[in-house]
Amino acid sequence: MLKYNILLKITGSIAAYKSAYLISRLMQDGHNIKVVATDSALQFIGEATLEGLTANPVYTDSFEQGKMMSHINLVKWADLTIVVPATANTINKLAAGVGDSLLTSLFLAHDFCKPYVIAPAMNTAMFNHPSTQSSLTKLVSWGVNVLPTGEGYLACGDYGRGKLLEPERIIEFIYNALKKNNNDKKILITAGGTKENIDGIRSITNISTGKTAAAIAQHFINKNYSVTYLHTPDAALPSGKYEDDQFQDFISLNDRIKELLTSDDFDLVIHNAAVSDYSLLEVETGAKIYAVPIKNKIDSSGDELILRLKKNFKIVERIKTYSRNKKLILVSFKFTNDAASEIQREKVEMLLKNSYSDFVVQNDFSDRIAGSKQTTFNLYDSKSKIDSFASSEELAAQLEQIIFIKDYLEAGK
Ligand SMILES: Cc1cc2nc3c(=O)[nH]c(=O)nc-3n(C[C@H](O)[C@H](O)[C@H](O)COP(=O)(O)O)c2cc1C
Repeated sequence: MLKYNILLKITGSIAAYKSAYLISRLMQDGHNIKVVATDSALQFIGEATLEGLTANPVYTDSFEQGKMMSHINLVKWADLTIVVPATANTINKLAAGVGDSLLTSLFLAHDFCKPYVIAPAMNTAMFNHPSTQSSLTKLVSWGVNVLPTGEGYLACGDYGRGKLLEPERIIEFIYNALKKNNNDKKILITAGGTKENIDGIRSITNISTGKTAAAIAQHFINKNYSVTYLHTPDAALPSGKYEDDQFQDFISLNDRIKELLTSDDFDLVIHNAAVSDYSLLEVETGAKIYAVPIKNKIDSSGDELILRLKKNFKIVERIKTYSRNKKLILVSFKFTNDAASEIQREKVEMLLKNSYSDFVVQNDFSDRIAGSKQTTFNLYDSKSKIDSFASSEELAAQLEQIIFIKDYLEAGK
C-alpha cells in the first residue's frame, strides 16, 4: 500500500475518542498522521494520547512560536484532510468561510485538488438544523466529501441521525478518496459559438463567449481530470493541463465530436457550445446566385442580398450514437430567451427526451449580466429539477459530485 500524509482534524464532540482508534489503524497501515485539534476537542481527548499515537506534536494554535505558517505548510504536506468528528459548530464555520482557529484557517487555505473529507458527529436536532444542513450542502458544492452519518443511539440518549460513522467505514472512505485517480476519467467540453461563413470575409455567429464552458473546464482541470476542450478560436480558455482542440462552424464541430467520441472512450461530454441552427445554402444578389462555399468577397453593389439558409440537424441528438463508450454521460445546455418557467421546463424536457441527455442545464438570456456572464443555471435530470446555481463554478462542482463522487452510473442513476 502507498504511504500517505493524512491531516486529521478533531473537533469538540463526545465521539472524539473514536479518532484515537482511527489514528491507530492508519498508523498501523504505515501512513503519516498529523493532528490539528480545536480547543474544545482537547476537552474530550488528551494531547498525550494524540502525540503518543502519531509521534507528532498536536497542532492547535495559529500563533504558536515556530509554527506560525502551519496554516499553509500543513495544507501543502497533506495528501488528504479529514475532520473527524466534525461538530455542527465547525461545519457551520467552514461553510461560512470563518477562519478563527488553526483548524478553520487551514480550510480557507485548502487546495481543492486534494480530498477534504468531513465526518459529522452530533445530536439529531443539531444535524437536522437548517444551518447545519445548508452548510453541508454548500460544502458538498465546493467539492468537500461529506460522509454519511450512522443512525442509532446517541450519547444524549436520543435515537436518530447524526452518529459518527463507524471508524472501519471511515477508513474505507479515506482509502477510496486517496485511490481515486481522476486522470482516468475523460471529459469532453465544447465551448464557444459556431461561425458560419457567408463568403471569404463575412460570417454569421451568435453571442456565446465560452466563459461558462471555460469555468466548468477549469474545475475539472484543477481536479486532475483528463479534459479535452473543443472550442472556437475566440472562445474563453481555461488554464492548466488539458487537450486543446478547435472547431469553427457547424460541420467542423460535428466532425470533431464524432472523431473524438468514436476513437476514444470518453466518460462525460459537457456540450456547452452554441451551435447554429442554420447554415448557408446560397446567396442571391442582383441576378446572381452564389453556391457555397463562397471563397471571395461577394460584390456589395446590389440593393438586396438574400441569404438562403438550410436547417441543421441537432448535433446533441447524435452525441450518444457517436460514442464508443455506451455508458457515456451527456450534459447538454438549453439557452432560453426570456421564457416563462413552464416554457423553460417544456424545452428542457424536449431536450432530455430527444438527445438522451442525462442532465440538462437550462439558463435564460435574462440572467446574463454585464461582461456576458451567466448567473443562474438550473440543473435537471430526467426526473426533476435538481437545483439552481448562481455560478458556473458551483454548477461544475455539483456535476462532479453527482457524476463522479457519488458514482452516478454505479449507483444505477
Ligand atoms: C459533553 C459535550 C458533548 C458534545 N458533543 C457534541 C457533538 O457530538 N457534536 C457537536 O456538534 N457538538 C457537541 N458539543 C458541543 C460542542 O463541543 C461545541 O459546540 C463547541 O463549541 C464545538 O467547538 P469546535 O467546533 O471548535 O470543536 C458537545 C458539548 C459537550 C459539553
